[in-house]
Amino acid sequence: MAQIIDGKVISQIIKNELRLQVQDLQSKGKKCTLVVIQVGNDPASSVYVANKKKACEYIGISSRSYELPEETPEQQLLELIDELNNDAGVHGILCQLPLPKHINEKRVINRISPQKDVDGFHPQNVGALMIGEQGFVSCTPAGIIELLKRSDVEIEGRHCVIIGRSNIVGKPMAMLMLRENATVTVCHSKTKDLQNICRQADILIVAMGKPKYITRDYIKEGAVVIDVGIHRDASNKLCGDVDYKDVEPVCSAITPVPGGVGPMTICMLMKNCIDAMKDYS
Ligand code: GUN
Repeated sequence: MAQIIDGKVISQIIKNELRLQVQDLQSKGKKCTLVVIQVGNDPASSVYVANKKKACEYIGISSRSYELPEETPEQQLLELIDELNNDAGVHGILCQLPLPKHINEKRVINRISPQKDVDGFHPQNVGALMIGEQGFVSCTPAGIIELLKRSDVEIEGRHCVIIGRSNIVGKPMAMLMLRENATVTVCHSKTKDLQNICRQADILIVAMGKPKYITRDYIKEGAVVIDVGIHRDASNKLCGDVDYKDVEPVCSAITPVPGGVGPMTICMLMKNCIDAMKDYS
């Protein structure tokens, strides 16, 4: 039986740790504030935003949200960001993605002050991660590192194969695993003989966006498997990129979907908000 890496339990432990930190800061008269901006009403985004607000409430971070109409001009959004950048009472700014098509996502990300960029998407923070300097790290890969460490998975010297090269998950994940002294291979949609490469992984991190794609044929016996995917299968049940039932018997540890990587992302966002206040106010 593989060890189940339980993101629900681990994220709850972290949330309780963060809550204590916030209480301590509050006793010193410091209040942490996150601002969440949503443009339009994409249903998935609305769920994410609601979950972020709920986590803030639990931890004791004050959250403010701007729900702007779909047709909001880009300039208006940029001006709001400028205002929030200049507001010393705001520690973290998050603009929920995706944005409506008429808004240039890159311009919006670049406009958020790197010191308030709790998503870790600003080029300055991405660059800092690349060269091992301090900065905000994208929340999902940061959450995966926490999952591995708190499950006593050894990273140093092991071969980590990552499937996916997105700016939000695959690329920062590779940098974080390098920082932990893993040997890292990044695979993507043009990779040849994916199966053979995956079978060499001690730690396999899957963020490819294809439901139940990874079967036991991709797994080295005893590997640790981290599943970043989230989909609905034919019977409307949540599933990941990994065929959990097929893979679980051959690996040593695995994250379930739901309840694996997912809960860690918000947790790391909360941690980044608290760090934003500690480091920059
Ligand atoms: N949309 C989906 N995931 C995320 C995230 O982590 N941050 C932001 N800003 N938007 C998202």
